[in-house]
Amino acid sequence: MKSKVCIVTGTSSGIGKATAIGLAKLDATVVAVMRDSDKSRAALQEIKSKSGKADSVVHLAADLSSQKSIRELVKEFNSRFDRLDVLLNNAGVSQFHRVLSTDGIEMTLAVNVLAPFLLTSLLTDKLISSAPSRIVNVSSAASNNAKIDFDNLRGEKEFSSFGIYGQSKLALNLITVEFSRRLAGTGVTANFLHPGVIRTELGTRGMNPLFKALAAFVKLFMASPEKGARTSIYLASSPDVEGVTGKYFANQKQVTANPISFDEEAAKRLWKVCEEMTGFSISPQPAKIN
Ligand SMILES: NC(=O)c1ccc[n+]([C@@H]2O[C@H](COP(=O)([O-])OP(=O)(O)OC[C@H]3O[C@@H](n4cnc5c(N)ncnc54)[C@H](OP(=O)(O)O)[C@@H]3O)[C@@H](O)[C@H]2O)c1
Repeated sequence: MKSKVCIVTGTSSGIGKATAIGLAKLDATVVAVMRDSDKSRAALQEIKSKSGKADSVVHLAADLSSQKSIRELVKEFNSRFDRLDVLLNNAGVSQFHRVLSTDGIEMTLAVNVLAPFLLTSLLTDKLISSAPSRIVNVSSAASNNAKIDFDNLRGEKEFSSFGIYGQSKLALNLITVEFSRRLAGTGVTANFLHPGVIRTELGTRGMNPLFKALAAFVKLFMASPEKGARTSIYLASSPDVEGVTGKYFANQKQVTANPISFDEEAAKRLWKVCEEMTGFSISPQPAKIN
């Protein structure tokens, strides 16, 4: 991965932090996207020291629930980097209660769907000019049995934590496959993955102390963040998946996704919603460069 530039979002903990360490160890330049916080600064130091690559890991600060912050992030990235080989949309949330972002959007939709849509859209030109390049989206097996309810995308009609999370990850699958269609022939691939059931902070933020103690016990049986990072690192770096696009992976293998992930009508409808909610889209057929 020498001379490759990889953006990884959500590297302050869990799978994202382990992914950043893994990619830096492979000699990539890692742009670690995290909020501006003490936790992020500590994570940056850990990524640098554990990878042994202090000079090739850079922190760019962004709150991915804020579209203004995403736009500023891209501006900053473009002013500092002239290429982008891998965009790894890893950051994600699972909310107990319906919470709104600073943009007034339900948080799961804002972070798990609209953020990767907007960030990828804003960076598409960079990915095309750096091709062959890769978009890697961290989805979840929670999408496997999920459905999309276009009347409840914002969780207004009904909010169940697992239901909204599964729907958001299925929406991410649809968007990933749609990016793969729109970017066909450009040398940019887009794939999505389930990292496994991994011992991280996901789903335990904001828990009361009793549930947190129970969760800590359950986590003893979960896999490590390093194991959770393997498929992300594989999709970002392996020659085995050069040119492979629009597919779902787990355990570093292609697996069967919820068939709704490939539903073109649903993808078009969702794409329109994302365009309306972010005010941005890539052109349907970018110029072919190879
Ligand atoms: N753990 C699992 O078993 C599992 C299973 C399937 C899929 N996944 C997916 O794996 C990905 C990584 O999650 P994880 O398990 O490693 O959980 P995690 O430890 O909670 O990490 C989530 C990361 O996303 C970041 N993030 C969340 N909201 C953000 C925002 N508004 N702006 C910037 N960064 C934000 C967090 O930063 P802060 O610390 O600043 O909040 C953190 O770095 C997620 O997409 C998740 O859905 C996880």
